[in-house]
Amino acid sequence: MSDSNSGQIDNVMREDRIFPPHSSFSERAVIDSMEEYQRLYDRVKSDPEAYWEAEAKSELHWFEPFDSVLKKDGINVEWFGGGKTNICYNCLDRNIDAGHADRTAIIWEGEPGDTRTLTYRELHAEVCRFANVLKGLGVEPGDVVSIYMPMTPELAIAMLACVRIGAIHSVIFAGFSAEAIADRNNDASAKVQLTADGLWRRGKVIPLKETIDIALEKSPTVKHCVVLKRVNNDCKMVEGRDRWWHEAAADASENCDATPLDSEATSFILYTSGSTGKPKGIRHTTAGYNLWAKKTFQWVFDWRPDDIYWCTADCGWITGHSYVVYGPLAAGATMLMYEGAPNFPAENRFWDLVEKYKVSILYTAPTAIRAFVKWGDEHVDKHDLSSLRLLGTVGEGINPDTWMWYHEKIGGGRCPIVDTWWQTETGGIMMSPLPGAIPTKPGSCTKPLPGVMPVIVDESLQPVGVNQGGMLCIAEPWPGMLRGIWGDDDRCKEQYWSTCPGKYLTGDNARLDDDGYYWIMGRIDDVINVSGHRLSTIEVESAMVSHENVAECAAVGRPHDIKGQAIAVFITLKDAEASEAMRDALRLHVRKEIGALAVPDDIRFCEAVPKTRSGKIMRRLLRDIAAGREAAGDTSTLEDFSVLAKLRGDEE
Ligand code: WTA
Repeated sequence: MSDSNSGQIDNVMREDRIFPPHSSFSERAVIDSMEEYQRLYDRVKSDPEAYWEAEAKSELHWFEPFDSVLKKDGINVEWFGGGKTNICYNCLDRNIDAGHADRTAIIWEGEPGDTRTLTYRELHAEVCRFANVLKGLGVEPGDVVSIYMPMTPELAIAMLACVRIGAIHSVIFAGFSAEAIADRNNDASAKVQLTADGLWRRGKVIPLKETIDIALEKSPTVKHCVVLKRVNNDCKMVEGRDRWWHEAAADASENCDATPLDSEATSFILYTSGSTGKPKGIRHTTAGYNLWAKKTFQWVFDWRPDDIYWCTADCGWITGHSYVVYGPLAAGATMLMYEGAPNFPAENRFWDLVEKYKVSILYTAPTAIRAFVKWGDEHVDKHDLSSLRLLGTVGEGINPDTWMWYHEKIGGGRCPIVDTWWQTETGGIMMSPLPGAIPTKPGSCTKPLPGVMPVIVDESLQPVGVNQGGMLCIAEPWPGMLRGIWGDDDRCKEQYWSTCPGKYLTGDNARLDDDGYYWIMGRIDDVINVSGHRLSTIEVESAMVSHENVAECAAVGRPHDIKGQAIAVFITLKDAEASEAMRDALRLHVRKEIGALAVPDDIRFCEAVPKTRSGKIMRRLLRDIAAGREAAGDTSTLEDFSVLAKLRGDEE
């Protein structure tokens, strides 16, 4: 990845445009100058415990007060130990108690154009009702509930209902296959499955329940399944196992006290890709996560009560957890939630929504912005986007040209852009401009948030100098950090804490420029970032090799105009014919094993995959070939030179 990115890095290095916050923005911002940011940053750095103690007390409700702020024992950390709180209570009851019961929490629009709004009071009632449904199914604190649902209010309701009663949710993005769901359900020993009859995507119904039926055949721990009626799709209901959401909820009471939970109780797990084939269930906590999601939301989006905030992420990813559900609701925000595709019924759908609901803060992914650029300005020009005051990006780096388009075309030159760098593991945003304070540079996530202590080190673990790339680590614990990998704490230690002892290894390369701005330079491991979604090369390879005709496979990322990176695979077949039909069969196979998001763009057949003498796939070489670059790197360790010659021949 670092090689495939080097073009971008060179580009970025020449980037010297700088955009100070517009005065109209700064004048109203909470943190309104670089000095103010620096003062806060230094204050947290000099006494993190005092700062977080005060914030935890003022921003969260405590059923029982904590008796320590931070305990560190090697890599094990405990934030706000001894205290009891509840994320759902902090998101709903606390806002209602503060007098905001009638404030709109969620404005929702389905892809076909149907709409719903829920005030904090209404959302609270729905959440309590569904929490009682879960209780009725025997769900207890610590039980895992698997969620595979469309972007409907019920998805947020389901998540909030789980945390209300101390159940741990595992949300699986609704594009994953039955195999992928079953793997995750089994790893987590999920007890209950939540799903829907289907979802709308580009005008078509995606039958989620059919996928769940296959997944549940292979998920023996799941005893119950609750099905939301979303598309009126016929679906099979298994007697004794499946119930309709509306029927179950109709019988349930609207009263359900939030369970006081230990600060460190697991709130949710979320599976993400690492450098091995097995997805890992990243484990987050209650108090620390909640506080981090809320504070970072307030800082980065400079949120005000009159904002209409829209994060376009799906709740199947961490961005949807922290910045659709927990951060905004904890802050008491009004948010827009949209079910469907950005280009349905036409390529102006996002801008139509922004105009219709007067969205003031828009948080989306570079991959989407690149698609809008390609679709053409005419779709934007039709709409009045003057309600926007702040724009954000997340999930991958944004190239400066795309940034400029976003800034000028969408932001009208007046809206700051917050390029937010963070990860599933970090729980919330780690580096980002504070929009009223920090001048932005296109392509840089600028500065660490207060409480984040980044360090960039070389391979001998020495801090690198200015403008020298290296591995990005975080030197000190922060409240939102992951606390483990579900069921595999050794893997967690090994993966994040062993390379750079005592520091969290992010897996990204970064450099610091002369102004102390951070530039993310891509991954150091075998993770590919397709449309802002993480996939490991090994996951794709394992799926491929599980096909009966495949002998060997190497998967790499290559640059792609819209997706950022696309997957290219090099396949050696057993005794089958390399044909278009075989390519189709392999695409279908990956779709079935992992889901549509892992289907490779390029499938190349080859007689052998190039390996080093010690048997390692030469990924750098393959990345060059996949990107159409001359494979110029060092091939001195290549086992068989003729392999390379043939691969190049295959290209012509
Ligand atoms: C990448 C998404 C550059 C990075 C919240 C990280 C970024 C991985 C940015 C995490 C950004 C995310 N600039 N790269 N602003 N944001 N990344 O876990 O490689 O899905 O390690 O979390 O995405 O992806 P994840």
